[in-house]
Amino acid sequence: MSLKWAFNINDFRARARRRLPRLVFDFLDGGVLDEYTRQANERDFKAIELRPESLADLRNFDTSTTVLGTKLTFPLMVSPMGILTMFHPKADVAVAREAMKMGSIFMHSYVSGITIEDTAKAIEPNRLWAQTTLRTPAENEAYTKRVANLGIDTLILGAETLAADKRERDLHNGLLTMPPRPPLSGLINFAMHPGWVLRWLTGPSFNFADHLIDGRPMKMKEMYSWMGYNGHEIERPGWDGVRELRDNWKGNLVLKGIATPESAMKAVEIGADGILVSNLGGRHFDGQPSTASVLPGIVQAVRNAGSSMEIYVDSGIRRGHDVVRALALGANAASAGRAFGYALGAYGQKGVEKAFQILHDEFVVAMKSVGAATVGDIDSSVISRRVSI
Ligand SMILES: Cc1cc2nc3c(=O)[nH]c(=O)nc-3n(C[C@H](O)[C@H](O)[C@H](O)COP(=O)(O)O)c2cc1C
Repeated sequence: MSLKWAFNINDFRARARRRLPRLVFDFLDGGVLDEYTRQANERDFKAIELRPESLADLRNFDTSTTVLGTKLTFPLMVSPMGILTMFHPKADVAVAREAMKMGSIFMHSYVSGITIEDTAKAIEPNRLWAQTTLRTPAENEAYTKRVANLGIDTLILGAETLAADKRERDLHNGLLTMPPRPPLSGLINFAMHPGWVLRWLTGPSFNFADHLIDGRPMKMKEMYSWMGYNGHEIERPGWDGVRELRDNWKGNLVLKGIATPESAMKAVEIGADGILVSNLGGRHFDGQPSTASVLPGIVQAVRNAGSSMEIYVDSGIRRGHDVVRALALGANAASAGRAFGYALGAYGQKGVEKAFQILHDEFVVAMKSVGAATVGDIDSSVISRRVSI
């Protein structure tokens, strides 16, 4: 199927499934354990029915908004994704370029295969957020210095639970050992994807360019224990560490992975500039509720406390209509991971460009259909009802 025949994010997913070896596609597409949360994310956005507004006055129609002072063409950003190099060698650079062209924001993962410096060449610094995680004070200082030198003003800190569930698709595919050790069927499957294998062999080497251990990039085999998979103990300083980072970083601080009103209130107390309500697309802790279901309670707690901290949401955004739904639930903006990962894996940078365009165009229609002339007009009144599906 050529790019011309891709009309929605599901088309990109179908194409990525054919184009990528199974081990790679499953890493992109999968979640943890039973993938309950992953499925709930998409289902619960879809279950929000929108209210059609007949003949609305849309003469001053405008999809733009601002996020931490940066103007977005429409309220959708790109969530951080590690090792995008598995899907396409241009990886972060390709996605960041398209985010730049679309007037969006690209969040660079702390387990990216492309350095923040190389990514920064593709996008204006105010549209690039640097993800970090709690490390030692010396490591934090070294990383924030690099970020500040690039003129980047927003750090996004992974603030999810410290342990992570099993990724069973990855286990079956032999990916959880690094380097991967696929079963025979997996090796045969690689042989059926010669284009990908050629790109892998001729492309940049796969490592975690930014995450240095003893001054060298972390090796793949070290990643899973470092990330806390399968109950590995990881010692991180928790909220005290967040406070320390807040005190030492003068730019914007956004906390990602917030999923309860209580954690959101801690973020307010600590002086975060924004939170990204996220369950990492169901890739981290299975059995937790969808973001569409927890978002209203979080918004209510934060706003009732008189805080204007910005609130974004990801996990399950597949349509422009989902962006309208996210805003209707009280988010300032939405963000997506897999939608852009599928597009990159399916068609490279051109795919990402089209994915942005599709989501934008769907958003325009949904916004007009609910009678919203500006992003500020999207509120809970555009929701007709929630159904169970
Ligand atoms: C391939 C892939 C890699 C990811 N890597 C990271 C990461 O390094 N850091 C992180 O905080 N979240 C990571 N995520 C989660 C995303 O940031 C985001 O929360 C999630 O994809 C949102 O759900 P969605 O895919 O349904 O849009 C990753 C997601 C995917 C699909």
